[in-house]
Amino acid sequence: MTIRHFLSLSDAGADGIAAMLADALDRKAARTGWPKGKADADAPLAGHTLALVFEKSSTRTRVSFDAAIRQLGGAPVVLDSGTTQLGRGETVADTARVLSGYCDAIMLRTDDPAKLEEMAQYATVPVINGLTDGSHPCQIMADLLTIIESGKALPGLKVAWLGDGNNVLASIIEAAGLMQFDLVAACPQGFMPPERDLALGQGRARVVADPREAVEDADIIVTDTWISMGQLHAETKLAAMMPYQVTAALMARAKPDAKFLHCLPAHRGEEVTAEIIDGPQSLIWPEAENRLHSQKSILRWCFGQIG
Ligand code: CP
Ligand code: NVA
Repeated sequence: MTIRHFLSLSDAGADGIAAMLADALDRKAARTGWPKGKADADAPLAGHTLALVFEKSSTRTRVSFDAAIRQLGGAPVVLDSGTTQLGRGETVADTARVLSGYCDAIMLRTDDPAKLEEMAQYATVPVINGLTDGSHPCQIMADLLTIIESGKALPGLKVAWLGDGNNVLASIIEAAGLMQFDLVAACPQGFMPPERDLALGQGRARVVADPREAVEDADIIVTDTWISMGQLHAETKLAAMMPYQVTAALMARAKPDAKFLHCLPAHRGEEVTAEIIDGPQSLIWPEAENRLHSQKSILRWCFGQIG
């Protein structure tokens, strides 16, 4: 049987994503008010273990996957590269083969997308992309769930991205192509997404230089840190990004019921003002919680339980 890896949104496709989102909504509703550590009534992944391998820092991905596998009835094993042999030069391929003997699935957060591919090539269990320098599909599953929960249907939406042409944007572009919404990214020269990322939008994504054009009549405004993990904190980049800061003036150009999303961690006063990220249009806290609910459905999809 083919192993179901979740390395990109395209691995699941539009139907798989829709099935996961529906499952996440159902399961979230079914355990309203329950203690976070209590397993779901059906415990669909009882007896399963999930290795969480981190070569970069994390708060949300680490804790939400830990909680997710427990709520599904399984157990997590958390590994930081600094305290494993991976950090001393053991190959990803060897790590993949070894972990496959102990665990039923592997989540990897790393820098180079090629390492994720290598993990998937040599693992004999499902591998999940917990962020690379190239993409962050788990984040976008939570974002899509949050948008749907806010009462908006995905097809035909206008989503505006402001700021850096980074890994999170790459996955939103991919989602636009798959789920049929329009994505307009406003990025400064030198920080626009590469052509290969834009191509994932299947004609649904475009890049503009003017942030006002991107937010005009938008339903959703999204941004992210200007300096991603592993990048140098360059004053020149911050200066180039400043016109792309999400402000009240820019939000006012979007639809009156527009919502604001940010994957977190945030830098108030850089990519977004405190007034917006902490204001009534912001959905950042449900968005962060939805990492848990959407990843439970990603895990179930990997094990062939849905989609
Ligand atoms: N949004 C996100 O992936 O957060 P962490 O880096 O804390 O995992
Ligand atoms: N673009 C950010 C996302 C963090 C969740 C980074 O890669 O650091």
